[in-house]
Amino acid sequence: MTMKTSLAERQAVLRVRPHELPYLFEDGKDLFTRSLTPGRSVYGERRLADGAVEYRSWDPYRSKLGALVQKGTVHWPFRANSRVLYLGAASGTTASHVSDIATQGVVHCIEFSPRAFQKLLTLSEVRHNMNPILADAERPDTYAREVGEVDILYQDVSQRDQVGIFLKNARFLVPRGWGFLMVKSRSIDVSANPKRVFQAVVERLRGSDLRVLDLIRLEPYERDHAAVVVRKGSPGPIEPAGSVTLKYP
Ligand SMILES: C[S@@+](CC[C@H](N)C(=O)[O-])C[C@H]1O[C@@H](n2cnc3c(N)ncnc32)[C@H](O)[C@@H]1O
Repeated sequence: MTMKTSLAERQAVLRVRPHELPYLFEDGKDLFTRSLTPGRSVYGERRLADGAVEYRSWDPYRSKLGALVQKGTVHWPFRANSRVLYLGAASGTTASHVSDIATQGVVHCIEFSPRAFQKLLTLSEVRHNMNPILADAERPDTYAREVGEVDILYQDVSQRDQVGIFLKNARFLVPRGWGFLMVKSRSIDVSANPKRVFQAVVERLRGSDLRVLDLIRLEPYERDHAAVVVRKGSPGPIEPAGSVTLKYP
């Protein structure tokens, strides 16, 4: 490596600064998490090293949670000690960024495709906080003992009954725990107007013990997708009832 390259890399790292949301970083253009496993890329993402510290860029076109951050969510409960239940982890693209954050917590990764699960297994060998579970998210009883209680439920499964699966798994949330439901309109109804599908999702969630805090569409990163953010249980002192205005763009 020439001196010139090394200097350029160093300057790039110096431009990485804390994002306004905790545990995230940015360089004015891209989003980053601090890598739990320096020296390794998970999905070909850009890495910036600063001595022993390394940052991994988080591609919002490959990750709906990354897209949600780029769309300006104000709800960001992910912390170092978070216990996360991740439904539809696939080969670990988004789950790896959650694992970068929850360094002292755990990310239970549910996936039912054996092929994707194999990649998750390999990833979890080097990520101590990632717990891969080969299971169907429709059947939470099969992993209930292993998962126990979680602070955050994150779901990205592209199934027709996405809401039913989410509600079944909300039982794992602690009181005032957070839920992130990534909704793919076309998986629910291929011909319906996505706006109507998202409204129906919100109405159904409102009939449960989950409070809907926000609905954010994920364009231009994901077409006809939206993220719904919920919180379990009665309103606490932080967000009084009625303080949230839902946006239906
Ligand atoms: C859109 S991909 C998830 C991408 C991943 N969340 C990411 O951002 O890296 C959806 C995944 O959900 C999985 N899936 C769908 N239905 C499921 C179910 N009922 N139980 C477990 N996994 C499921 C699929 O096999 C697929 O890997």
